[in-house]
Amino acid sequence: MSTPRTVAVVLAGGIGVRVGLGIPKQLIKIAGKAIVEHTLEALEANPLIDEILIMMNAAAIGELDHLISTNRFAKLSRILPGGETRNDTTRLAIDAIDGDDTKVLFHDAVRPFIDDRIIEDCVRALDEYDAVDTAIPSADTIIEVSADRLITNIPDRSLLRRGQTPQAFRLHTIRRAYEIAADDPGFKATDDCGVVFTYLPDVPIYVVEGTAANMKVTEPIDVHIADKLFQLQSASLSLESMTSIPDLTGKSIIVFGGSYGIGEQIVDLARRAGATVHEFSRSTTGTDIKSAKAVRRALTEAKAATGRIDAVIVTAGVLRIAPLVDSPKRDLKDTISVNLVGPAIVAREAHPHLVETGGQVVLFTSSSYTRGRAGYSAYSATKAGVVNLTQALAEEWESAGVRINCINPQRTRTPMRTRAFGEEPADSLLDPADVARVTLNVAASDLTGQIVTVQVAAMRGLESDEAH
Ligand code: CTP
Repeated sequence: MSTPRTVAVVLAGGIGVRVGLGIPKQLIKIAGKAIVEHTLEALEANPLIDEILIMMNAAAIGELDHLISTNRFAKLSRILPGGETRNDTTRLAIDAIDGDDTKVLFHDAVRPFIDDRIIEDCVRALDEYDAVDTAIPSADTIIEVSADRLITNIPDRSLLRRGQTPQAFRLHTIRRAYEIAADDPGFKATDDCGVVFTYLPDVPIYVVEGTAANMKVTEPIDVHIADKLFQLQSASLSLESMTSIPDLTGKSIIVFGGSYGIGEQIVDLARRAGATVHEFSRSTTGTDIKSAKAVRRALTEAKAATGRIDAVIVTAGVLRIAPLVDSPKRDLKDTISVNLVGPAIVAREAHPHLVETGGQVVLFTSSSYTRGRAGYSAYSATKAGVVNLTQALAEEWESAGVRINCINPQRTRTPMRTRAFGEEPADSLLDPADVARVTLNVAASDLTGQIVTVQVAAMRGLESDEAH
């Protein structure tokens, strides 16, 4: 008997009224890519999935044309218009797929954190069952209420689950359930297992364990949560690859602010990793990133020497601690110019070079970007600005294949820090060499729009792992 095909159907026919951003929520950009693209990447990467079909909101279907025309998604066969309701969309997908025994996974486009374990559990469960759901226990007590807001029932929480997707079926089963449903004038459902449960009551529906991360982006707050989850994912990704130094043979890397501290370590490590490195700073080459002309000259010089530029890293920055009312205006202006205008100028000047190589800009922020602190008003504000700059440029540059990320090193042993804070306990500070290693791993990755936090605790975990 030949093994049946496994088709993943991405349900993207909705609008996302509850998120309320004025575009279908599956198109909202998180970490530089539309939510539906993240979902596609997860499905494409799983070896058990043979084919992917997207059912897209008909009014916005053209927005996904670029996914078909590139060969990024080899398994993506078709993008078809969805229906009025989620169940109409499923019905249209069923009509578009052949083969009675085909294994079909219906997955919400707006659950981008689906993982391999869930996919595998669903596909394998279909060897034994004709219908499979994915669900997690409920942390909240679920209550039933009447129209006048009085509790009518409190079901036993230990038996309750919150349904997610994928919902997976043998094609003949889900098709049959919808055929019977079509004759029911009172048909009402919000998911696909519900259709099988109601219209084919004899078919057992097996439940696979979901994950809390496999959330559905539904309300405005979910966009922020999803953004943070992606940041955590990329941070752990870069930290996991910390022990290795990427091979940068043949790559040309430019570092602005590479004369001391983290910048110096990056220059050193990148050379050892095989890259050709050009370092520019005020102290060594007289290059001031506040000047577009100086930056342009530096990039042209490096390009002439190597013929290409693959990554441009900006570590230059100033930190002056003083209450705003006591800061001379020129200090304020200088902090903003060096820390925020400078990275913007470098990004602008580097862009045409990076378009040629599909290269990357790496900027630096600080943990104070999430919350301004007394004495750091201008510094924190510029570091928050750098994060916004990174996210915005990741979107602006995506179609040209140019990436941009931002490293957020926490408390690092650098001359700038020692000048500002004096001597501090060594084990509370990051080693700049470790920050350099994370930076080069990010520079060698295909991440974009990410804020990668490097923490002392995470680095220490790695050291103890290595010791075992
Ligand atoms: N969906 C679909 N076709 C529809 C409606 C919804 O394919 N006619 C998809 C959505 O695109 C989403 C998934 O079903 O991926 C889950 O639905 P839901 O969260 O309810 O999405 P929306 O209907 O888009 O959201 P809202 O109810 O806030 O408008």
